[in-house]
Amino acid sequence: MIMTELVFATNNSHKLREIREITGDSLNIVGLGDIGLNTEIPETGTTLEENARQKAHFIYEKTGRNCFADDTGLEIDALEGRPGVYSARYAGEGCQFEDNIRKVLKELSGVENRKAAFRCVVCLIYEGKEYLFEGRIHGTIMTEKHGDGGFGYDPVFLPEGSRQTFAEMPAHLKNGISHRGRAMTKMMKFLRNF
Ligand code: IMP
Repeated sequence: MIMTELVFATNNSHKLREIREITGDSLNIVGLGDIGLNTEIPETGTTLEENARQKAHFIYEKTGRNCFADDTGLEIDALEGRPGVYSARYAGEGCQFEDNIRKVLKELSGVENRKAAFRCVVCLIYEGKEYLFEGRIHGTIMTEKHGDGGFGYDPVFLPEGSRQTFAEMPAHLKNGISHRGRAMTKMMKFLRNF
């Protein structure tokens, strides 16, 4: 069987690794480094959908290859959905994961409603056409960090029904329930039936 090859439009090595863990042998995921594409991908949208589409189309225009991009936001109820589309740079341009976590914990200090959800939108461009897939996981924001796996807000995100934060779980458990895992499962199913 010939494996479907897809370029993944990201410069984030954590995400590339996670996506490969999620897709396993079902897809051949090609990173930008693998095709010698060293470029900043524009991300100027005001919604996850806009950003995912913008990134996928940018790479498609550059390479002409089947490709996909994802965009994720952490949507916190008590913060009216923030940081949302601005999750990566919530504490400012060039900030670290640590800075973002500190800002969120400060804003939630003393707040009782700690409900939140990760939402991921994947934009696939396959044989010249665009398709969107969404995945979501509900949970709560802890009052302090737990665990050192994963990335981003993982140490403070406790998925619904779990006793471990995303950062405390083995990768395969996180990927089985995560926003990105769910969106990617939909994309893989779509490709299997194409
Ligand atoms: P991106 O759009 O997937 O690059 O995600 C934007 C930001 O959301 C990242 O920089 C992280 O801070 C956060 N994020 C995305 N996915 C995850 C995840 O699986 N766990 C924790 N944080 C995440």
